Amino acid sequence: MSENALVYDSKNMPFRRLGPSGLRVPLFSLGGWLTIGETVIGDPVKEIIKVAFENGINMFDTAEGYAKGKSEEEMGRVIKELGLKRSDLIISTKLFWGTGSSPNDMGLSRKHIIEGTQDSLKRLQMDYVDIIFAHRPDPSVPIEETVRAFNYVIEKGWAFYWATSEWTARDIEEAYHVAEKLNLIPPIAEQCQHNMFHRERPEGEYAPIYAKYGVGTTVFSALAAGLLTGKYNGGNIPPDSRFDQHKDVFKSTIKSFNEDEGRKKFDKLDKLIEFADKELNCKVGHLALAWVAKMPNTSTVILGASRPEQVVDNLKALEVIPKLTPAVMESIDAILENAPTPASTYGRPSLDTTFKSFY
Ligand SMILES: NC(=O)c1ccc[n+]([C@@H]2O[C@H](COP(=O)([O-])OP(=O)(O)OC[C@H]3O[C@@H](n4cnc5c(N)ncnc54)[C@H](OP(=O)(O)O)[C@@H]3O)[C@@H](O)[C@H]2O)c1
Repeated sequence: MSENALVYDSKNMPFRRLGPSGLRVPLFSLGGWLTIGETVIGDPVKEIIKVAFENGINMFDTAEGYAKGKSEEEMGRVIKELGLKRSDLIISTKLFWGTGSSPNDMGLSRKHIIEGTQDSLKRLQMDYVDIIFAHRPDPSVPIEETVRAFNYVIEKGWAFYWATSEWTARDIEEAYHVAEKLNLIPPIAEQCQHNMFHRERPEGEYAPIYAKYGVGTTVFSALAAGLLTGKYNGGNIPPDSRFDQHKDVFKSTIKSFNEDEGRKKFDKLDKLIEFADKELNCKVGHLALAWVAKMPNTSTVILGASRPEQVVDNLKALEVIPKLTPAVMESIDAILENAPTPASTYGRPSLDTTFKSFY
């Protein structure tokens, strides 16, 4: 470690266990999708990571598929240049889309999981990641092969835990079933989209998974890619914003701005802006982040930022969390009108929130 290396100080960052595991993750972490290695390259990456670290964020999320591996490269380079102590950090990466184009360069086969992990570690310039995610389910591969391969990666010390991302509850059930039957390590978390406009899967479909296995979420797009800051209200797309720079990725969202669906969202956002201002004395973006952080199964909310100032601004959400009383949460539900119907209890009196730990 160099003499000028930054020393980690958690500041006022709360930590939660990642699902049923012993790993403690910061309530807010930082990811690199569409930013690090893509729209943000070189010194600005260092500024973002440095500011995050100085404000208590010690968990960073990337993926082999982000900017075709460039996101991992940039994150690894900057962490090395800043001289951050590896044991202070929690690094997660994700496998599925790969960086190449041959048939085995992607997916969740044993071959790609093992080769993909090794390639990610090379790009990150690290000996291990803390968590390796299956970025999507791969229905073309036997689930036993996938669970065994992640088990192998952990046994080798290349990752400490494995987890899923945007798997269905049924897919996660299959993984647990195989892990239990074969005495293998199950996934501990699900990296899912969860925000005020996207609730059905994280709050409805996953409810039995939380109750049975204690799976935690590492939430992404908590600001709905920036929509929940209110900056797109009225269909206005500011220059250099995400929707301006990635028109293809967000084609259907941008199209919806002039349709019923988009207009309804903007109406709700106007109400939320007023509610945040009058009742909670905060900005709607801070409310949106605090609201996700408040959810009982959220382990960490992965922030996205194109500039360091956004990281600092978003962390103001920490001050809003204590203001989210049950009455406030009910008022928000009344504005959103999208609370999912409670999950089936399968004849049990209620969902048992105590789960059996595999560890
Ligand atoms: N597992 C998966 O499939 C998956 C999918 C998506 C994301 N993720 C992970 O989750 C992370 C976060 O997702 P996300 O980037 O979609 O999160 P997000 O918080 O919904 O969107 C982040 C974007 O919103 C804008 N923004 C953020 N803070 C702002 C502020 N204070 N004021 C105004 N604009 C602000 C910035 O874009 P502009 O400044 O460019 O407008 C920023 O890049 C990703 O980096 C990635 O690590 C995972």
